[in-house]
Amino acid sequence: MSTMPRLRTRFTETFGIDQPIVQGGMQWVGTADLVGAVAEAGALGMLTALTFPDPDVLAAEIARVREHTDRPFGVNLTILPSMRAVNHDELRAAVVESGVKVVETAGANPGPSMDYFDTHGVKVIHKCTSVRHALKAQAVGVAAVSIDGFECAGHPGEDDVPGLILIPAAAARLDIPVLAAGGIADARGLVAALALGAEGVTMGTRFLCTQEAPIHHRIKEAIVAATELDTELLFRPLGNTSRVHSNAVAREAVEVLSAGGQFSDVQHLVNGIRGRTVYELGDPEAGVWSVGMAQGLIEDIPSCSELVTRMVSEAISLLDSRLAGVYSS
Ligand SMILES: Cc1cc2nc3c(=O)[nH]c(=O)nc-3n(C[C@H](O)[C@H](O)[C@H](O)COP(=O)(O)O)c2cc1C
Repeated sequence: MSTMPRLRTRFTETFGIDQPIVQGGMQWVGTADLVGAVAEAGALGMLTALTFPDPDVLAAEIARVREHTDRPFGVNLTILPSMRAVNHDELRAAVVESGVKVVETAGANPGPSMDYFDTHGVKVIHKCTSVRHALKAQAVGVAAVSIDGFECAGHPGEDDVPGLILIPAAAARLDIPVLAAGGIADARGLVAALALGAEGVTMGTRFLCTQEAPIHHRIKEAIVAATELDTELLFRPLGNTSRVHSNAVAREAVEVLSAGGQFSDVQHLVNGIRGRTVYELGDPEAGVWSVGMAQGLIEDIPSCSELVTRMVSEAISLLDSRLAGVYSS
């Protein structure tokens, strides 16, 4: 058991975790290796259902997380337009039948699944990008919402409201715990999120650049080398914006779509198999891959345990020293 001081919020108490830190779902990245390491670090990791080809492989991966840890973990169920036909009901059943008690939903209203989750004692964190969707999720009974500001990797939505506005706007209107997501990579972001009214943070990009993330080391080095300017907003004209690493492939796809091209015109550039090759071969130019502006804040490749320990201890000294010093002077 960790001797680290705990940062307690309603979120940590509801979900039975030591620290108010979540590793958000990441396709191709949220595997047992990462999720188990995040759990052992005292945070909440999300296995990512879409990474696995079918429900049986997902169930086997859930079993593999349990070989790493006996602490809580969750599974991300994302429902978004995709090139591959996915049976979301079967994935959902595999998660519930495996006894997982936390689910992170994203991309679609969780309402139709809530009775099923409630019956099986599954707590839902719904990931969304606007106050109106967060209110809707609260109304259908989710236990918490994770709200992605415009800074985030993956899908920031179409409203372009940064976290500095979105999080306090959401926290003021919701009764359930809010997790701040997008642009958070260290203790400064964590303390800021708590100050804005959040009861925890969800991070993607920062966990992508840890020792245990199952991607090639060269991609982690590319994240360390990148700045906050090195992302592109892909699929904007199609109303399905995705923030990805800025490389020649992404820039070409953005250009084609901006000039009026359709999805079929960029399909060969943006397909998921190419994106997966990036992680496997360690070539950041091989395809499009999700990353957030937070990469500009990332300067190393720690283990998940080092990362969580450092965030918590620096958050405590920020609160006790730097911010207390501002007040007393
Ligand atoms: C490589 C990568 C893949 C992601 N895939 C998913 C996904 O499949 N489903 C999902 O809900 N969010 C996905 N996300 C978003 C994260 O869960 C999280 O909301 C986001 O990264 C937070 O912003 P940050 O990267 O600035 O921390 C992904 C993020 C990254 C970096």
